[in-house]
Amino acid sequence: MNVADSELVESILIDMGYKKSKDINCADAIFVNTCAIREHAEDKVFSQLGRYEIIKKKRPSVLIGVLGCMAQSLKDELLEKRPYVDVILGPDSYRRLPSLLNRNSNQANSKVDTRLSRFEVYDDLFPTRNYGINAWVSIMRGCDKFCTFCIVPFTRGRERSRSITSICDEIKNAIGHGFKEITLLGQNVNSYNYEQFKFHQLLEIIAQIDGVHRIRYTSPHPQDITSDLLDVMKNHNNICNYIHLPLQSGSNRILKRMNRSYSKEHYLNLANEIKIALPDVGISTDIIVGFPGETEDDFEETLEVMKDIKFDSAFNFKYSSRRGTKAAEYDNQISEEIKKERLIKVIELQKQHTLENNLKLVGTNQTVLVEKESKKSKTKWSGRTDSNKWVVFDKRNTKLKDIVRVKINEARGVTLHGELIQKSEIAA
Ligand code: 5AD
Ligand code: SF4
Repeated sequence: MNVADSELVESILIDMGYKKSKDINCADAIFVNTCAIREHAEDKVFSQLGRYEIIKKKRPSVLIGVLGCMAQSLKDELLEKRPYVDVILGPDSYRRLPSLLNRNSNQANSKVDTRLSRFEVYDDLFPTRNYGINAWVSIMRGCDKFCTFCIVPFTRGRERSRSITSICDEIKNAIGHGFKEITLLGQNVNSYNYEQFKFHQLLEIIAQIDGVHRIRYTSPHPQDITSDLLDVMKNHNNICNYIHLPLQSGSNRILKRMNRSYSKEHYLNLANEIKIALPDVGISTDIIVGFPGETEDDFEETLEVMKDIKFDSAFNFKYSSRRGTKAAEYDNQISEEIKKERLIKVIELQKQHTLENNLKLVGTNQTVLVEKESKKSKTKWSGRTDSNKWVVFDKRNTKLKDIVRVKINEARGVTLHGELIQKSEIAA
């Protein structure tokens, strides 16, 4: 979401005549687009700001801007403790950039805009994308779910969906620029609702756009995965056979305290339904360990759900208390030590499951989009299967963005290794 928002901001700045600088020490303006989801993300921004302060001391004319979720949630702290910050804009205020930049005023009020909007979807603003493989396309903004641990409903405001026409226009534009993969983005993509059009209907429309080779979306909420959505995914080859399904916890008691609105049983049934409807589907998840009040038994239940489903991959987080959220006020906050221990356990278990699932693919042929050079070898490509697994293979005569068939020979760590079979007919 931040990458997509940064592309939006970039296009606003380019329209104003700004050019992207390759060297931060030569830039006239420096913007940091921020995330507030966990303390760790905020820490990184604060240390980045420390670096900008040094640049500002050397060159006082440089303009420093903090954009995005932290601007929204920590505006007062930034104003008070980081006086060298010139502009503070929340996620719904990017359109204010030109007027703030042209103004050159030192008054505190004139440099801050963190008003949230019920309507802003940046419908008419296309992000700057010159070259790439995957185009992030925002389809909705905000979140109304109010999970008790999460700051997003406060920093990004209420749910609102972007028009189908504008989404499709942006996708056609990206395809025209050679993008092979479209990833639909939203805090809750499957809450999409525009003039009675639901997410599965939007997905079906997009799947029929000429030249869209691959479609992914992130993140859906388990509560809103419908059989209609699974049908659409099944019926269109260009919709990737992959679902990110955030679990958060496997304990009903904790799910309730998290306000996740589904039970462990619902989640397990759903995962089963998905596996039946979409054979060979890749399923990944998000897990939070050490949520306030999480006992050893609750944590065990999370491990049990993991063992039951065997996710292909997981993003695992230690609970991070966010000021203003309900969970931050809960009793029984868990110690850092226990959080760490639990995190190590889920990471270890997930590694086993990833390897186990990957080993099942050895000997099969997979369709892979060539995405980048392998980090370990200049003669190899790295790309993802339809089900979102990374595969490394010899380049031979193929190039970036080709869609190729690869025979999987080996599963090592979290990566598959294979060999090229043939250039697929759909290759560029
Ligand atoms: N602490 C830890 N993880 C969090 N997430 C959201 N808020 C928090 C928090 N306060 C995680 C959730 C979510 C993912 C995007 O980030 O797992 O699905
Ligand atoms: Fe945060 Fe996602 Fe819950 Fe919304 S649904 S409150 S974005 S975790």
